[in-house]
Amino acid sequence: MGKPGDNRRDLEAQSAMAENGKVRKQWRFGANPKLLDASSRSIKGTLDRLFSAVDPSDERPLIPLGHGDPSSFPSFRTSPAAEDAIISAVRSGNHNGYRSAVNYQPAKRAVAEYLSRDLPYRLSPDDVLITNGCCYAIEAVVAVLSRPGASILLPRTGYPFYDVRAAFSGLEVRYFDLVQERGWEIDLDSVERLADEGTAAMVIINPGNPTGSVLSYSHLEKVAETARKLGIMIISDEVYGHLVFGSKPFVPMGVFGSIAPVLTLGSISKRWSVPGWRLGWIAVCDRHDILKEAKIVDNIKDFLSIGSDPVSFVQGAVPEIIKNTSKDFFENMVSLLRQTMNMCFDAVNEISCFDCQYKPEGALFMMVKLDWTFLGDINDDVEFCLKLAMEESVIILPGSAVGMPNWVRITFAVEPAALKEGIQRLNAFCKRHAKQEI
Ligand SMILES: Cc1ncc(COP(=O)(O)O)c(C=O)c1O
Repeated sequence: MGKPGDNRRDLEAQSAMAENGKVRKQWRFGANPKLLDASSRSIKGTLDRLFSAVDPSDERPLIPLGHGDPSSFPSFRTSPAAEDAIISAVRSGNHNGYRSAVNYQPAKRAVAEYLSRDLPYRLSPDDVLITNGCCYAIEAVVAVLSRPGASILLPRTGYPFYDVRAAFSGLEVRYFDLVQERGWEIDLDSVERLADEGTAAMVIINPGNPTGSVLSYSHLEKVAETARKLGIMIISDEVYGHLVFGSKPFVPMGVFGSIAPVLTLGSISKRWSVPGWRLGWIAVCDRHDILKEAKIVDNIKDFLSIGSDPVSFVQGAVPEIIKNTSKDFFENMVSLLRQTMNMCFDAVNEISCFDCQYKPEGALFMMVKLDWTFLGDINDDVEFCLKLAMEESVIILPGSAVGMPNWVRITFAVEPAALKEGIQRLNAFCKRHAKQEI
């Protein structure tokens, strides 16, 4: 055994030698290669890079049209009832301890009742699992499906968190198409072509991120029938549930839970405009208990019980948040989104380098195609967004980040005055970069 101090002396000697360029100490650890470029594939990572490209000497306010979080804009502030619920949960002193989301009945019951309002049957608290936002619900479901040889079908375009989590868990991803000309409906033929005996699930996002689509009752029914035919479950991401302002109502996929088993993922992040509160859920909408029998539900519970629970006072406040938020709050939010969407859609289509064919009916975004016949010195969507951030302090998301190169995703969930200013700067930018001969 060495004497005390030997280790330190060894290290000092090694680093002195390394400095002299003689020996390089070999350490036994190294980074996980699966994570090395994960941030470049996430929306957060892409937006962070754009934010850091903004010119700090630009005195104009930065206009964020790339995010899915309008909570900091006064018009999108959450309901007073939700804030009061949090305050009283904290003040009660009853929510300071560890709180297992798998077992805390009041939150599970409140979410079960909330979701049951739109279903032809009632969910019980046992059908609901509370998670750290919808992201953690995705993590749990992807982890559970990641058996050797398994695959999952994802929409292209979609929400890249699924892709990144699946890559990290070693779950194979196959992409089915969404058809813009049919309101970004799912190409069910491509779903059928992609599935094989290893395929476990397909993901739908409704209302759609990044498309702003809202899927109709009859299309969702066909999705359920296709899933049944293929013997796969449906993971229905409804994080934008009820944020609809077009001609179609929001229909939860759980309505078809007797045709095929459905896991509904959601959260209070978007409808209440509180993504930082990190409260989401997984609801098991499966009228024939297929997922229970396959031990999928137990598996999800096991995954959650080795993870971290949502903040205890937010879990404690959820029943009051749901019960006390007024209809007016939701109606005002939807009417504001309709107003900003219309403003954005009309203005964007006036700009020659943009082409937006589909008018969003839900969620917070629109997909806009870049028209290269008008653009001069810009080569792709990433360069477009980078230069826009540098020159105009406006952030929009390159379509590449959501699997659609040559497109951009614009968020219209922004304070109307900021949106107007952002569009003016977009217009000026496009004019400055237009082809000379035009
Ligand atoms: C389609 C989709 N699913 C899930 C999430 C994550 O939601 P949460 O903030 O509740 O984790 C988002 C966030 O933008 C999203 O767009």
